[in-house]
Formats: sequence, C-alpha cells, structure tokens
Amino acid sequence: MNPALDQLKAYPFARLATLLENERPDPSRALIDLSIGEPKHQPPEVVLQALAGSLTQVSKYPPTSGYPELRKAIADWASQRFKLPHQALDPLANLLPVNGTREALFAITQLAANPTRAGGEVGMPNPFYQIYEGAALLAGKQRVYFNSTDQGQPDWRSISDQQWSKLELLYICTPGNPSGVALDEATLAYLANKAIEHDFILVSDECYSELWLGDEKPAGLLQACWNAGITHFRNCLVCHSLSKRSNLPGLRSGFVAGDADIIRKFALYRTYHGSAMPGATQLASIAAWQDESHAEHNRQLYREKYRQVMPLLQGICDQATPDAGFYLWLNTPIDDQQYVRRLYAEAGVKSLPGSYLTRVSNGSDPGINHVRLALVAPVEQCVEGIQRLVAFHKSLN
Ligand SMILES: Cc1ncc(COP(=O)(O)O)c(C=O)c1O
Repeated sequence: MNPALDQLKAYPFARLATLLENERPDPSRALIDLSIGEPKHQPPEVVLQALAGSLTQVSKYPPTSGYPELRKAIADWASQRFKLPHQALDPLANLLPVNGTREALFAITQLAANPTRAGGEVGMPNPFYQIYEGAALLAGKQRVYFNSTDQGQPDWRSISDQQWSKLELLYICTPGNPSGVALDEATLAYLANKAIEHDFILVSDECYSELWLGDEKPAGLLQACWNAGITHFRNCLVCHSLSKRSNLPGLRSGFVAGDADIIRKFALYRTYHGSAMPGATQLASIAAWQDESHAEHNRQLYREKYRQVMPLLQGICDQATPDAGFYLWLNTPIDDQQYVRRLYAEAGVKSLPGSYLTRVSNGSDPGINHVRLALVAPVEQCVEGIQRLVAFHKSLN
C-alpha cells in the first residue's frame, strides 16, 4: 500500500463529528447548522430541465475533453466574466471541463509533481482547502503552508526567491475560504510572474468568485495574466465550479482553464484516469454557464443574509462584509474547539473550529481561536443562528 495514505489527515467534518459526539443540545429548539459550506439555495430550473432532457446520453461514452458546445459555452462565459478579448481563450486548447473543482484540484498535483525532483514543494495558503494538502501528500511532495495575515490572505509579496524556487505548484484561493477576501489583479499578476520566473504551476481556485457581495466582481487569474501581457497564460490555471455559482454541488461540474500546454497534458492524464464528465451533466452545464440571471439571483440571496447578519455581530467582530463567498471567519475569546463544542451544546449552533482548516507553520497557527460559519441555511435560520451565537459569545465575558 502507498504509505502516504497514512499521512492523510482526517477531514474537518469527521473531526467535528468526533468533537460533538457526546454533546446533547436542548432538543426543544431546532439545531442550526452553520458548519458545512454546502449551498442550499434552489438549483436553477433551466439546468434541471436540461438535465432531465438529456438522460439518453447515458447510452454513449462522453468525451474526456468535453463536447465542443460545452467548451464553447465555458469559453464564452469566462471571456465575458473576465473581460478577455474574443479568442483569447481557445475553447479547444485552453480549457477542460471537470467533475467539480475538488477532483481537478487533486488531479492537477498528480500531473505537476515531478517524482525525480527531490525537495520540490507544493505551496498553499493557511487556512486551506484540505484537498490541496492531500493532493501534495499523495504525490509524495513536501507541503508549505503560507499563513494568512489578519487581512485574510497570505502576504504573497513577502515570500523570498529562495522559497519561490522550491515550488513545483502553488495553490491560491481567491476569494478565499474562509476569509472571503479576494486578491487584487496586481497581486495575481505578481504571482503569475513568479510562476514564470521560478517555473512552477500556479493554480487559482476561484470557486467562490461568483458570489461577490458588494459592487465589485473579484478579479481572476486569467484576466490578470491577460492584462499583464501573459497572453498564453503560461504556467497558470484557474478552477471554476457550478457548485457555488449555480447551487449545483451535486451536479459535479466545473472547469480548468489556462496554459494550453498544461491543459493538453491534463487531458491526456484524465483520459487514463477515466474522469470524463457524463453527457447529461455536460448538457446541463451548458445551460448553467449560458444563464446569468440565476447567478445574480443567488448573489442577492447571500447579500440579504449579510445585510441582516452583520449588524448583529457589532461588538463581537469588527469585520466588514467579506468580498465574496458565504463564510464568516470570527475570532473566539476561548480555544476554538471548546468554543465550537459549547456553542453546539449550549446554543444548538454547529460551526467549524478554525484550527481544523489550518496547520502550524512558521511557529504559528492562523486558525487557532477562530471559528468558521457558513451562511448557507435560509436567511431566518442564519439570523437566528447568529443571534444565538452572539448571546453565547457575550455570556463568555
Ligand atoms: C476552496 C474550495 N475549493 C474547492 C471546493 C470544491 O468545490 P466543487 O468540487 O464542488 O467544485 C470547495 C468546496 O467546498 C472549496 O471550499
């Protein structure tokens, strides 16, 4: 057996289940779950209809590279969203549909890691999405965790050239999970230039990019590359998903786009891996990428939650509404695991300890004394959950 399997860490939600297993919250009031970031808004009707109308697709093998119509729909969407000129993204060369970003984020490291390069590292932000770490472990690579600052993203400009030169791949997450902070275009261009200079693959996980909460759409790596003159997107990839944008976490649909050389090798890898997107999913995904109205409606629903919830948190958190996403990342006045356990036991609210999303790096752990809350439940439940949290929080003082 691969010994790296033993190094895989328990998933945050498995750890949470263990943490809470002996607690019995008051059964007379409904439990409010703010722990898991699974979208709960309605999936778009237009997509459900497309899915239902394409079931006969099961009678044939789907192409790994995706139907040309899907690739075109994705290229059109991404070009419009990230203000790329016509034909900047070649639908046949620069992108691939994937079964959700999770599997693509994992697979890309298996592709990028050079087994003969000793000391090569896979970098990631800290906190991070645990797939990045598992992918690096199973590819036999060292992990390097770049701590986020209090501003919600790592200070990417403070990384030394010596550190850059060790990387084989760097994951970034923008807008970030859990901070919701988006990297600006200049920082993305800076990172793209570092990826070229030090010859590593830069993977930008942008699966929350469509849930912007203010007036400004988060920048993306493709647009940053293009505007910086990196028109072949060299060494750069972005990952996008319908899970959050379109409330379709069960559809398993997203795409990877960027450097044509990497995409070509990725397509080859995926042919062997057997990860073609089912035909019905492909047709439903075309309908999703071609419709923007449901995505706008979705944003409105999240904005309304933050509009109602943020004033309740005054005095507990001086944070402003995040740039995007559906999380809140709060400081806790006591140990975060204790906080989460007691919040569950005493107030019937499930949340996630910050330290389940981080590792100790450079002698510190940016998840300690933090809690992550996902505002995915209906607005009334989110409001009640935060009201209960505020009362609990105040009772600690
Ligand atoms: C940061 C981040 N990346 C990627 C994913 C995976 O999303 P999906 O596989 O549904 O596209 C998630 C899901 O929660 C996430 O939080």
